[in-house]
Amino acid sequence: MKLAMIGSGYVGLVSGACFADFGHDVVCVDRDDRKIAMLRAGEIPIFEPGLDALVARGISAGNLSFSGDLAGSVRDADAVFIAVGTPSRRGDGHADLSYVYAAAREVAEAISGFTVIVNKSTVPVGTGDEVERIIRDANPEAAFAVVSNPEFLREGAAIDDFKRPDRVVIGGNDPRGLAVMREVYRPLALGRSPIIEMSRRGAELTKYAGNAFLATKITFINEIADLCEKVGADVQEVARGIGLDNRIGGKFLHAGPGFGGSCFPKDTLALLKTAQDNEAPQRIVEAVVAVNDQRKRAMGRKVIRALGGDVRGKTIAVLGLTFKPNTDDMRDSPAIAVIQTLQDAGATIRAFDPEGMEQAAKVLADVEYCSDAYSTMPNSDALVIVTEWDAFRALDLKRVKGLLKQPVLVDLRNIYPRELVEQHGFSYTAVGR
Ligand SMILES: NC(=O)c1ccc[n+]([C@@H]2O[C@H](COP(=O)([O-])OP(=O)(O)OC[C@H]3O[C@@H](n4cnc5c(N)ncnc54)[C@H](O)[C@@H]3O)[C@@H](O)[C@H]2O)c1
Repeated sequence: MKLAMIGSGYVGLVSGACFADFGHDVVCVDRDDRKIAMLRAGEIPIFEPGLDALVARGISAGNLSFSGDLAGSVRDADAVFIAVGTPSRRGDGHADLSYVYAAAREVAEAISGFTVIVNKSTVPVGTGDEVERIIRDANPEAAFAVVSNPEFLREGAAIDDFKRPDRVVIGGNDPRGLAVMREVYRPLALGRSPIIEMSRRGAELTKYAGNAFLATKITFINEIADLCEKVGADVQEVARGIGLDNRIGGKFLHAGPGFGGSCFPKDTLALLKTAQDNEAPQRIVEAVVAVNDQRKRAMGRKVIRALGGDVRGKTIAVLGLTFKPNTDDMRDSPAIAVIQTLQDAGATIRAFDPEGMEQAAKVLADVEYCSDAYSTMPNSDALVIVTEWDAFRALDLKRVKGLLKQPVLVDLRNIYPRELVEQHGFSYTAVGR
């Protein structure tokens, strides 16, 4: 199959490189010339484990290429994937569909022969209908079908998620469109990943319902963690106790500083907007959004309390800035609110993140970025772990104690056993324990 990927970000680039690895002929398009130039030079504009090798393999095999020329890239494609961003719209927080619609317009003018237009971006229910309208208006002669194919990959494990997904969702009812999609995903069916077909609207809503449910799970355990702190229970024990129940499942039951990232915050908001527009309020998700919003700064206040209630003039070492490990993505990372809360209270921040510091510098002012974990610590009054990168899981606590001005450790990801840390003479603050 000849495939064109419009948008070469986290989703477009990973999907494109994986499809090429399965043998399809793929061109990844982006309107960001810098990105395309980097990719052509064999450089990867984002950090995603394994992606450099996968892209290199596709380029040398000759079936993965990069282009800034959208029209030329989609002309002969069997399927054109729209994988552009759908961020929260400034003002009302609904999904900003301007990139999707702009891409659809450009695609419409360039396609020839029967082409499947695949919405891979996360888009509100009904967007497929609008994309179909746009294409028909722009090119009344075009032979095409619009299909929804939401993406469920996780940054940090994106390649494995794409190649061995729990399921693939395809939404649409045009038989020719569905036939092309079955062929596109046939290599995954061989790997026994279920490929489920449904209505286009069902597929669009499935993506939002899935993310809202996961965000709810995280928020649920975070509130249980708050209760654990009040009643003297350990949230990790409780999470294990409930997670072993198959009806509940153990994943997404890790208490922490609140969810962030490029998807959950914007997708929960967009779902609420869709719900309002359709007069079907989603009260649970409303509560999830509200609770999570206030949690991030609350974690900053937790650090302030661990330092005796006043951080003015103090220096705080922060480890981990990205919203989760193994990505350089800073979008809506809880670290932003935690650090800003500490800065608002008068603290100075010294921080380190293995991959996120370049992105962090764009959103966090007045932070001293350090070259490794230990160099954040000299003259710092406390160490705060915000993101659980592997490199922070087995710190040399003796050395840490020697470097810090006072032995205060705040572990917002619960990665250390309390006993071990206290044996080393630290005052230890965790979440829900
Ligand atoms: N990042 C994730 O983990 C993830 C997971 C599942 C779904 N999604 C969804 O996938 C979509 C893309 O997310 P992302 O994280 O890959 O975004 P991203 O910002 O990393 O990439 C989007 C890319 O599209 C390009 N672009 C925008 N308009 C274009 C146009 N008209 N022509 C060509 N290129 C254009 C941008 O330059 C950018 O490089 C979003 O809807 C998101 O919600 C993301």
